[in-house]
This record gives sequence, structure tokens and C-alpha cells, in this order.
Amino acid sequence: MTRNERANFGSKLGVILASAGSAVGLGNIWRFPFETGNHGGAAFILIYLVCVLILGIPIMIAEFLIGRRSRANTAGAYQKLAPGTQWRWVGRMGVLTGFLILGYYSVVAGWTLEFIGEAATNSFAGKSPAEFIASFNGFVSNPWRPVIWLILFLLATHFIIVKGVEKGIEKSAKIMMPLLFILLIVLAVCAVSLPGAGAGIEFLLKPDFSKVDGNVFLGAMGQAFFSLSLGMGCLCTYASYFRNDTNLSRTALNVAGIDTLVAILAGFIIFPAAFSVGIQPDAGPSLLFITLPNVFQQAFGNIPWLAVILSLMFYILLALAALTSTISLHEVVTAYLHEEFNFTRGKAAKLVTAGCILLGVLCSLSLGVGKDYTIGGLNLFDLFDFVTAKIMLPLGGFLISVFIGWYLDKKIVWEEVSNNGALNVHIYKLFIFILKFIAPVGIVLIFINELGLFK
Ligand code: PHE
Repeated sequence: MTRNERANFGSKLGVILASAGSAVGLGNIWRFPFETGNHGGAAFILIYLVCVLILGIPIMIAEFLIGRRSRANTAGAYQKLAPGTQWRWVGRMGVLTGFLILGYYSVVAGWTLEFIGEAATNSFAGKSPAEFIASFNGFVSNPWRPVIWLILFLLATHFIIVKGVEKGIEKSAKIMMPLLFILLIVLAVCAVSLPGAGAGIEFLLKPDFSKVDGNVFLGAMGQAFFSLSLGMGCLCTYASYFRNDTNLSRTALNVAGIDTLVAILAGFIIFPAAFSVGIQPDAGPSLLFITLPNVFQQAFGNIPWLAVILSLMFYILLALAALTSTISLHEVVTAYLHEEFNFTRGKAAKLVTAGCILLGVLCSLSLGVGKDYTIGGLNLFDLFDFVTAKIMLPLGGFLISVFIGWYLDKKIVWEEVSNNGALNVHIYKLFIFILKFIAPVGIVLIFINELGLFK
């Protein structure tokens, strides 16, 4: 593919599904519950929802318009829209962020493959919650198994990336998204009917504002950016493949809606189940993986074949949801190397995959043999998560909102958001107001608040 022959997403549904496929992933089902658990529950969720509404949706529309207008990778996009300026660094920072996220994200994506194996062999049967915790801890600290899985996962991502945008990304998203959704509803119903699940539901719905501190705000904002794939040019790169008649604001609303729904559903599976079997909600990154097997075991223990089918389906869909996200992360870096350095797509993809394998192996080992090597008290895995989700993505979001709110010619903004006047966009003025004032000021205030400067 040369620069002039950039791919396009085929159908309208394909556009939404591919973007939603990027957004929906481990961020919703693995990261959202453990961040909610770490930050005290319902109050965190409320702040998260506000962040999605006033930061996430406007910044998503902004990324869409930058990508579609420029029809380039995220760094090239700023070069086209703001030639000769330093704005290209926003794109470059996004590429770096994507690379780092893919490094540690693929570790967790690899875990899903191990769990597919466990589900298939019905190894959840008859285990106690304490045994689930012990076997998970044994697995992640093993120097080989998680490493092999993460390499396999990255190779699968690589394979789809080199097959091209339309065929690979669109097809996988079209099949897995609806299936995943149905299965999550089934599991949520099972989880809330476990004995003692009420405490988990209360944790999700009854906010305790006395626990809200700077960390909660930063956590909620970071989670919103991470979960919506925002702040690093991922949706900007996807939008560069959008068609000219794609309705950007409606697509953003749909993607944010689907993404939020999946996260909330995941919450309604994890917390009722965790409280029911006595797992601490602040167990951290292990939360999903030590809680969920209990649901299969408790709800379907008497019907082993059903337990196998449902758990197998769940982990396969989780792996696929992670895959549509790793594809989008990989695509950002690959498109950048391909278009900016004139590597062939194949060679660009190989470089990205090799680099991510290296990062992934280091992150994986930092949970086991390398856990004594810490920076600022965090192992490499946690450090990557912290720096990307809580610093780089919000910083990217800040710069994107300033770029659209203050720098880019409003004629261009209007042309893109309204498809050259063909659409009636009622929220246009509000959109500009948010990007000009609310989003940049809000993000800065949350950063300052985190540093404790308001006390
Ligand atoms: N949004 C993805 C998820 O929730 C992760 C991701 C972050 C993907 C940033 C792309 C960019 O799993």
C-alpha cells in the first residue's frame, strides 16, 4: 500500500465496530474493575462517568476529525494540519505511548490464553477461592508460561496487522462484539444472584465521598482515556480510514456508549462475585483473574459441561476483545513507521512486534523473578501502567483539546464535524466550548490536585 492508496473501512457498522473494538478490551473488563476496587467503588464510577462525558466524548470527536481530515498516521496528521510547527510532537508522543501500552497490555492479553486452556480442561472445578489466588500467583510469577503466551498473542496481532485494515480489523470486530455483550449479561445475572452478592452491588452503587482524594480523580480520568483509547492518536489513526460521510459525533457517542456499558457490566460481574466469595475488591491487577473462576465454579459447578462451555466462551471472547485493542495499538505505531520512514508495512510491523515482545517480556518478568527491581516503588509492569494511563494519555488529551480548541482553523473543524455542512450538529458550540476551556482546565486541575497542591 502506498500513501495514496490508504485503506478504507467498508461499511458504517464496520467503522463503529472497529473503533468500539479498539475501545472495548481489557481496559473495560480487567482494568476498570480493579481501578474501581482500588478507589473505593461507586464514587470512583461517578467521577469516571463525568470524565467520559466531558473529556472523553469531545476529545474522541477531536481525534476523529484530526485523523479523517489529514488521512495520515497520527504524527503525519499534525504535520499536515500544522506544518512546520511543534505540534507533530503530540503525534510522536502518541506513538510512543501506544508502543509502551502494547508492551504491558500484551502481558495481560497473554494471561487470557492461559485461562482459555484452564477453562477447556475444566480446571476450575472443585477449587476454593484461596486456591484460585494461589494458582494465579504461581502462574504470573512463572518465568516461562506468561512469556510464551504474550509472545503468541503479539504474533497473532502481527499476523492480522500485515493482512491489512479492512479484512482483519473489521471482520474480527463484527463477530465478537455482540457475542461478548450477550455473554457479559448472562454472567452478570449469575454473579448478582450468588449468595452475599448484595454487598458487591452496594459497593458499585452507593458512593462514599469521604474516600475521594486526588488519586481517585486521577485514576478516573486515566481510566476514561485508557478505556476509550484516547490521548495517543489511536482513534485518530482509525479515523484516517473513515469514509467522508461518516458522522463523527454520532460515532463518538456510540463508541463511548458501548464502551461504558461493557465496563459497567464487568463491574456487575466482578464485585458481586468478589464480595460473595470474600475476595478483597482492592486486589489489583489480579482481581478479574482470581474472581471470575469462582463465578463459573459457584454458579455452574453442578453442571460441568455448562461451566466448561461458558468459561471457555468467556475467555475466548476476552482474548478477542483484547486482540481488537492490541491491533489498534499496533496499527498506530506501524502506520507511523510505514508512512514516516518509508518502511514497507510488513517491515514496520515486524519492528513493532519485535520491540513489543522485548518490552512485554520485561514487564512479565517484573511480576515474578524481577519483582525486586522497582522504580518509585513500582515494578516495571505497574510503572508502565501508571505512566501511560495516568500521565501520557491525559497529557495527550490536554494537547489535543488545545490543538482543536485554540489552534486549528474553526472552518476546518466545522467542515469535518458537519461533513461539509451536510449534518446538523446541535452540540457544535458546546463541543468547542468544552475543548477550549473545560477539558484543558479540567485535566490540569486533576494533575494539580493529584500533587496535593490544593491542601
Ligand atoms: N481501550 C483499550 C481497552 O480498553 C486499550 C487501549 C488504550 C487501546 C489505548 C488503544 C489505545 O482495552
